[in-house]
Amino acid sequence: MQSKLSWALFFAPIVACLSMGPAQNAHSQESQPNEPRYTKDGELIHPGNYREWIYLSSGLGMTYRASATASNSSPNFDNVFVTPQAYRAFLASGVWPDKTIFALEVRAAGSKASINKGGHFQEELVSLEVEVKDKTLPGGWAFFGFGAETQPAKRLPVVAGCQACHTANGAVEQTFVQFYPTLIPVAKTKGTFRATPEN
Ligand code: HEC
Repeated sequence: MQSKLSWALFFAPIVACLSMGPAQNAHSQESQPNEPRYTKDGELIHPGNYREWIYLSSGLGMTYRASATASNSSPNFDNVFVTPQAYRAFLASGVWPDKTIFALEVRAAGSKASINKGGHFQEELVSLEVEVKDKTLPGGWAFFGFGAETQPAKRLPVVAGCQACHTANGAVEQTFVQFYPTLIPVAKTKGTFRATPEN
């Protein structure tokens, strides 16, 4: 009896630790939400973990200019990710909450490797473009281009064209929800989907 009790006393804290481990991890992730972080000069710090965010969709060889024809034989892929807490808020409301971050990752397309006989697969990173909704910044939305680097990026000037195209053509606020198939019905149900001339 004595020895059974001491074994139980020995194991009890271990069992308690093991069962608390994952819950504690989940909690610490929740308590560190993915929000934009800036240097003291106002440059956006590279969101290193964007591939752990929610995946919205991919484009292949998308071009936005009429002169850029579809003849591009080596089109790039783009993959769009959004911060998990912003995604959950969007599902509930159809609008993006303050501190939303989007990552648009551009990757080269390959076609010849391993057993592949047709079609394309994704290869090296070409660039990372980021958009944030942040009411502490003038205009409330800001765009950043990291290229293939991870150094902090300066805010792109409003005249850079990012803002103009996104404001004029995005279906929800400044974002292209019309290209994210799982979000279209959400925005339509919530009444936030804006029909622009081209969508
Ligand atoms: C002529 C229009 C146009 C311009 C200019 C433009 N974009 Fe976009 N952008 C799009 C479209 C269309 C999509 C969605 C489709 C896709 O590419 O997957 C998009 C998607 C994005 C996304 C994903 C979130 C969203 O809004 O849907 C980011 C981030 C982004 N662009 C950043 C930039 C940055 C940074 C610039 C400027 C350097 C820029 N864009 C310039 C049209 C444009």
